[in-house]
Amino acid sequence: MPVMCIDSNIALKNCYWTGITMHALHSNPPLRVDKSFEMPSIPLVLTKILQVLDDDTASAHKLEDLILHDPALAARILKLSNSAFYSFRTEVKTLSHAIALLGLGLVKSLTIGVTIFDSFIKGQKDEADLIHKLWMHSFGAGMMAQEIWTRRAHSKKELEFAFLCGLLHDLGKAVFFKRFPLHYSILFIKEKTAADPDICVLESESFGVDHAYIGSMLAKQWGFPSDLVAIIREHHSALDSKSPLVRVVALADAIAKEQQIGFDGDSRICLDVEKLQAQLGMEPEEYERMKATAEKKRLEIDRFFNVSS
Ligand SMILES: [Fe+2]
Ligand SMILES: [Fe+2]
Repeated sequence: MPVMCIDSNIALKNCYWTGITMHALHSNPPLRVDKSFEMPSIPLVLTKILQVLDDDTASAHKLEDLILHDPALAARILKLSNSAFYSFRTEVKTLSHAIALLGLGLVKSLTIGVTIFDSFIKGQKDEADLIHKLWMHSFGAGMMAQEIWTRRAHSKKELEFAFLCGLLHDLGKAVFFKRFPLHYSILFIKEKTAADPDICVLESESFGVDHAYIGSMLAKQWGFPSDLVAIIREHHSALDSKSPLVRVVALADAIAKEQQIGFDGDSRICLDVEKLQAQLGMEPEEYERMKATAEKKRLEIDRFFNVSS
């Protein structure tokens, strides 16, 4: 499969479709995001999940009901609940048990993530592997955002929200894969071979906007909370943001890249990580601890997602 060339680090010149795709890049006109651009429509179940409030028993039953309407989704949520990420002593056999152990907000976030990435992966062939790697990266960034935020958040709800923000920070990349699958896969290759790699620059050159912009537009259109919309929009300009959670997500993103959890098309960390740490009041020891945690998570994520994909 052509896209494997990226992941297995086989020299690009040996990749049989590189010649064709590079030719396509140079010969095809750019695919602009203009007024006629059609955003992907929101999966029906997601509309309903977003209406579930975060904190009462009735909401927990409602979420459980919604998930149970889709047996494949229910199975995936249970599988995640039983994974090494959470290491519960007892087997989680029901969704209500999962909600009791993980918390309503976290199960809701997991369901949102699974639903979105499943819907974007549907119908994709060669690109499916890249989207799968993006999902792994997003999951890792979500987990790391939660880890970094643990010492800074004031409530469990804030922690659950940090996970969701990390999980969806690159939503715009999934949009590009959905609308321009071949062209966007080529950009991932081009980024790797560019002298000064920066996926945001390549996106802007090709589509007129980058993934932070298009992701925030989709999140707004789909009715996500405004804080989440802002984080998606600002995660590459976090140093200028007033929101500490944006910086947390940007740092989680950087750590996920550095530890090679999945792949998000960025082979270089463009933000000044030391400045981010300073803004968050993070000592070097804590940063080292976070990197060690990410390394552990990478092994768990690799194992889990490569078995259950
Ligand atoms: Fe990004
Ligand atoms: Fe990312």
